[in-house]
Amino acid sequence: MPVSPTLAISQEIARRRAAGLDTVALGFGEASIPVHPELVRRLAQSAHRGDYGPVAGAPELLEAVAGYWTRRGVATTAAEVVCGPGSKPLLYALFQALGGPVLLPRPCWVSYAAQAALLGHEALLVPTLPGHGGVPDPERLSAEAARLRAEGRPATTVLVTLPDNPTGTVAAPDVISELCAVAEEHDLAIISDEIYLDLVHGDTEVLTPAEVLADRTITTTGLSKSLALGGWRIGAARIPERHEAVRRQVTVAASEIWSAPAQPVQQVAAWAFTEPPELAPHVEASRALHGRIARTVAGIFTAAGAEVAPPTAGFYLYPDFAGRRDELAASGIGTSADLARVLLDQHGVATLPGVAFGDLPERLALRVAPPMLYGRDDDQRWQALASKTPEELPWIADSLAVLREALSRLV
Ligand SMILES: Cc1ncc(COP(=O)(O)O)c(C=O)c1O
Repeated sequence: MPVSPTLAISQEIARRRAAGLDTVALGFGEASIPVHPELVRRLAQSAHRGDYGPVAGAPELLEAVAGYWTRRGVATTAAEVVCGPGSKPLLYALFQALGGPVLLPRPCWVSYAAQAALLGHEALLVPTLPGHGGVPDPERLSAEAARLRAEGRPATTVLVTLPDNPTGTVAAPDVISELCAVAEEHDLAIISDEIYLDLVHGDTEVLTPAEVLADRTITTTGLSKSLALGGWRIGAARIPERHEAVRRQVTVAASEIWSAPAQPVQQVAAWAFTEPPELAPHVEASRALHGRIARTVAGIFTAAGAEVAPPTAGFYLYPDFAGRRDELAASGIGTSADLARVLLDQHGVATLPGVAFGDLPERLALRVAPPMLYGRDDDQRWQALASKTPEELPWIADSLAVLREALSRLV
């Protein structure tokens, strides 16, 4: 298997820049928000903590995470929480414990199907409804679950990403309700990946599967996106009573693979998950910045003839050049991989092709991640965070101009 496409594009951008090639970095999904100084101060204060601590996480962290979910309408006890070095390894351990086949949305984040493949589990991708990314169309999901059952290999799990990566959208409450009904009907565990939940831009209504089926749903989250702490590696899973055996199995995997999350990071996370007033304006500002730049970039793609579902959460968008298929074909572009390659090699714009997200190769879709435009260093990123019109800051405006020009030359 190749290295995860999101990490590979990041290395490719670094390689191009080292070789002196100008590159507009829209490939890697890093939040690119400066770390809040109080988090830095607390990390330094906890640096002396060299002990491993309990496998599932320090008691104060488990309590804080339980409070985080309880405040979101999903009653949670500390005993139901397992923390790990990011939500990614927790998802892997969950897939391992739940077994296959697994039903995923199409398109979906690159790592779900890759993790299932590493485990030797079958992963089937079920198309999403337009504008409701991250959640398999309930009707097609039901049909797929029925087919697998009839073939004697029933699916164990359906995964949803709420809000979604790659589309930057949030599935509507009625779609979630229908999905939950299908999960009940076919006895599927639901994994709800909610790592972008705190980055909903406006007043979009969100219903999480755990609010509907608290006992059937396993939820994952982390601080990588809302507080831009991806490199600190801290994530959490809520694994309710019904899935007690899964929780035990995840803890076994944790004990044999990573032992425990890094103790100093846990100490800071225990504070951050209480959502202290010191951090709230920081998250609020990052939400506003992500929303404003995502909408600006969406406008640029729309002007170039792509269809884009308006981004409502997180920091991605997923333009589709279906309407420009003939012109692109004339330039030898027939797949999303061609499209991403030509954009990078000929125009210096790095994105990821839809095919990396399990989409059909011929669908001319790109996953676009604008946050790396916020700045090359923390000074620029703080300015972007503070600005009411970040798209006018020279380093952001310059990149947007290059993107506009590249797209106009492409089509
Ligand atoms: C949808 C989704 N889930 C999970 C993750 C993993 O995040 P982490 O392991 O940093 O918690 C990411 C990161 O890109 C993501 O986009």
